This record gives sequence, C-alpha cells and structure tokens, in this order.
Amino acid sequence: MNRLRCFGPSDTLFVLSAFFIPLFFSIANAAFNLTTIPFNQGYLPLFGDGNLVRSPDGKGVRLLLDRFTGSGFISSNLYQHGFFSANIKLPSDYTAGICVAFYTSNGDVFEKSHDELDFEFLGNTEGKPWRFQTNLYGNGSTSRGREERYRLWFDPTKQFHRYSILWTAKNIIFYIDEVPIREVERKEEMGGDYPSKPMSLYATIWDASNWATSGGRYKVNYKYAPFVAEFKDLVLEGCPTDPIQQVPGAAGICVEKDAYLEAQDYAVVTLERRLAMRKFRQRFMYYSYCYDTLRYPLPPPECVIIQSERRRFKDTGRLKFGGSHRRQRSRISATLSAFDSNM
Ligand SMILES: *[C@@H]1O[C@H](CO)[C@@H](O)[C@H](O)[C@H]1NC(C)=O
Ligand SMILES: *[C@@H]1O[C@H](CO)[C@@H](O)[C@H](O)[C@H]1NC(C)=O
Repeated sequence: MNRLRCFGPSDTLFVLSAFFIPLFFSIANAAFNLTTIPFNQGYLPLFGDGNLVRSPDGKGVRLLLDRFTGSGFISSNLYQHGFFSANIKLPSDYTAGICVAFYTSNGDVFEKSHDELDFEFLGNTEGKPWRFQTNLYGNGSTSRGREERYRLWFDPTKQFHRYSILWTAKNIIFYIDEVPIREVERKEEMGGDYPSKPMSLYATIWDASNWATSGGRYKVNYKYAPFVAEFKDLVLEGCPTDPIQQVPGAAGICVEKDAYLEAQDYAVVTLERRLAMRKFRQRFMYYSYCYDTLRYPLPPPECVIIQSERRRFKDTGRLKFGGSHRRQRSRISATLSAFDSNM
C-alpha cells in the first residue's frame, strides 16, 4: 500500500476556522486553455475496480472507499515531462483517516531509483478542514523528504477545483486552479534528485487509518461509507515514452512536446501569479522542509528562502504562533492560529 502515497505518521490537531476566500486568488488569472480527454482515452483502473465508477458521459470517474477496498486509476502511458491535471471534489463530512492522492510516479518500473511528484490530501473529523501536502522525489531520493503542507482557502468538498502538476526539464509547478502554490526550478546541484525518468499519473483513495488523522487517533469510520472522490475534466499532456525500450539518443523524440509544454500559459509564473503564490504560501503553508533547519541545517539547493515565509517558522520547521494557548484565545487570534497546525 505504500505506493498509494500520502503523508507521514506525524500529525496534529486542527483548529476550527472559518473559511474565507481571498479575492486576490480569484483575480489571479483566467482559466487555462486546456484540452480534456475522456477517462477511457488515457487511463486504466489500478485497483478496487468495483469501486471505480465511470461517469455516464465518460469524462470522469468516482473513486470509492468502503470497508472492503479503496480504488485508484493510472495513466495508460508513462510520460517524459507533462501537464497532469484534473478537476477534483473530495469526500465530505467525516473523513478522518482517508487519503486521496493525485501524483506521478515510476515506482513500478524503477523500484530503487524512482521519481515522484505528489498531491496528497488527508481527511479530517467532521467540521475540520482537509489538509494537503506536496512532495517530490528524484532517482530514489526517499531519504530526502521535500514535503510542504498546507490548508486550502476553500472547502474542497463543496465544489470541483482543478489540481495540476507541471513537470518540464526546467521546472515543476503545482497549481490549484490557476494559483501556483509551489515551484521547484531545476538546479544543477540537485543532480538526480530532480525527477528525470518517465512517470505515470496515479489517483487513489484509500484507508490510512494507522496515521492519517492525529497520528492514527481518528480512524476511518465506515458508518459514513462509501467515501467518494470525484475526478473529471482530465488533462494529460506529455510525451508518451516507454522507459524500458528507451535507448540513448531516443530522448530527441520528446523535443517537440517539450517545446509545446514550455510554451503553454501554465509554464510561466507571471508576476501576478508569483504574488498569488507568495500570498498563498504566507497564509496557508504550515510546513516546508526548506525552513526545517533541524532536518536540513543547510537548505537543499532547490530551496528559495523567502524571508517573509521564513519568519513564520521556528528552527524545527514548526510555525511560531499558536501551540498550547489556543483555547484561551479570542476568536480573532483563534483564526490566526488556524494557520498553526504543524506536522
Ligand atoms: C486553445 O487551445 C486550442 C488548441 O490548442 C487553440 O486552437 C485555441 O486557439 C486556444 N484558444 C485560446 C483562446 O487561446
Ligand atoms: C540514479 O541512481 C543510480 C543508482 O541507483 C545511479 O547509478 C545514477 O547515476 C543516478 N542518476 C543520477 C542522474 O544521479
């Protein structure tokens, strides 16, 4: 089950908080001009087939988790670089212990030297928000976690939102709708840690009771099953590649698609988008490995240290504000401390 992704054993309580919708995110951009494909045209069931329900129009699927199994799908090809995207709606109400993951990986092909890019969503007890994490691994660099954890500025169970991963030879961008929430630019010093081999796209829902919510304190409660994650308006741009048959020099076959990807609107973090990204990160990011100087006394080479971000974190990587005094706080500071849930 470890291939299904989702983040680590540590966890913490979340503070109830009102959702608010910062206007700056809505002005950030017009929607991307994307070409969507029907499910059958790009994807296959991965596991729990009976719990993968295609929509009548063929454009999407519902992934169910019940007491017998979770479910998942995988792209029918591996891609050398790409833009992987879907409109996703997460299960609502009591979702403690549930993990929904949307990620690229080649762990099935390269067991010891795999690459991976993750969106991982963790459910919560009723009334408490979903949280999520992004992560990346390159060439089997699993001992170097590059995780960041965040809350969302909306309720992901109410409406569909677009989650996207762009991967080129130059950079990786995680998007929510049109807001870039994380960019990793390729640095020479990263070496093999920058994902470089073809990857498949995966989407899964599964029972992560052992640790998902407050370190396993809250298990999946099947009284509320089935839990349903919906995926639609799927986008799969990239250069389909067979990593086994790849021969030296064959890399040239992806030149055109690479150029296409790099020329797309979503490949550029405009000034406006960069501002939206900064604002997102200052308000909703509650952990970044780049600021965890206990783990990494020297931030890894791809880290871009932003002083206004760094000031929010202790050397442990935990947020400075909040902690044990939460209960005595006024409503205003309770809202502030909602940003404080740590690892
Ligand atoms: C959107 O993309 C399609 C296909 O790539 C293209 O033909 C069309 O002109 C684009 N529309 C806009 C508004 O850019
Ligand atoms: C990836 O890891 C393998 C060993 O697992 C090593 O032989 C290879 O040189 C690495 N590739 C890069 C680009 O670092």
